Amino acid sequence: MPALTIKLAFSLMLEVRGLRLSLPDRGHKPAFGRTPMLEILKGVDLSVPAGASVGVVGESGSGKSTLARTLVRLYRPTAGTIVFDGEEVGSLEGMALRSLRTRMQMVFQDSQSALNPRLRIGTILADPFIVHGRVRTTTEALARAEALLEQVGLSRQYLFRYPHQLSGGQRQRIGIARAIALGPRLVLADEIVSGLDVSVQVQILELLSTLRASTGMAVVLISHDLSVVRTFCDSVIVMRHGEIVEAGPTASLFEAPQHPYTRRLLRAIPLPEVDPSWIDSVNLIED
Ligand SMILES: Nc1ncnc2c1ncn2[C@@H]1O[C@H](COP(=O)(O)OP(=O)(O)O)[C@@H](O)[C@H]1O
Ligand SMILES: [Mg+2]
Repeated sequence: MPALTIKLAFSLMLEVRGLRLSLPDRGHKPAFGRTPMLEILKGVDLSVPAGASVGVVGESGSGKSTLARTLVRLYRPTAGTIVFDGEEVGSLEGMALRSLRTRMQMVFQDSQSALNPRLRIGTILADPFIVHGRVRTTTEALARAEALLEQVGLSRQYLFRYPHQLSGGQRQRIGIARAIALGPRLVLADEIVSGLDVSVQVQILELLSTLRASTGMAVVLISHDLSVVRTFCDSVIVMRHGEIVEAGPTASLFEAPQHPYTRRLLRAIPLPEVDPSWIDSVNLIED
């Protein structure tokens, strides 16, 4: 079955094996000598097929953001491999790392601090095209920025605004626009709707879904909110203490969670579907 093997190898856009990350422990800074290291990712294996939407859940401090930052190579892994489109990117440096940035992008939780407050939106969005040599003139770059705004549902007037003049939802649209500027194959979105009104959350997540469908990019959606992941992701991975405790298709994970930790997380969902037996018991009480 060599043909099948080859097909599988190509359809898995991202394959992570045994990923470990240690960082200097900010909680324990000795007066002299080296800061002790703290292991934050403890051997993560995961696969993301091309075009997929994968949710990452787990309580605060479980390592979700650190995983995303390591995948986009804001951190260098301590051990393990990150194979992206057939290339080992875990040890890339310099120009090679810059090229990775065109193919894998991240949208951050705190759009307020992720966008340079001194730059107009037009400059923020034109920048990637200039830095990566995709355009020859500033006019051309601004035209591309304007097209990006349209893709994320904002009018060209926003080119001239500053980040602080935008609402939280609008800023996240800009974060998404900047992430998709160079046509990445994978976007990692870290808690991008937390802190937004529920109706705005839905709009932002729908925008991301629409963009995923129209561009064929894959999305890794990190959220502590399981209902978000349930609605928008095909598969889910569950993290705890820097490890993956469970992974699978969204439907089966929500219907038959295997790990006790996943079951506990599921019980904590704030908006469960209404259980008919609950209505019956209420009626009984009223009788
Ligand atoms: N730069 C750092 N130095 C030391 N510890 C860190 C650093 N960044 C994160 N951590 C720790 O790593 C753990 C995972 O953090 P994080 O990835 O932010 O979790 P999550 O996004 O799931 O809330 C936490 O215990 C956090 O305190
Ligand atoms: Mg986080």
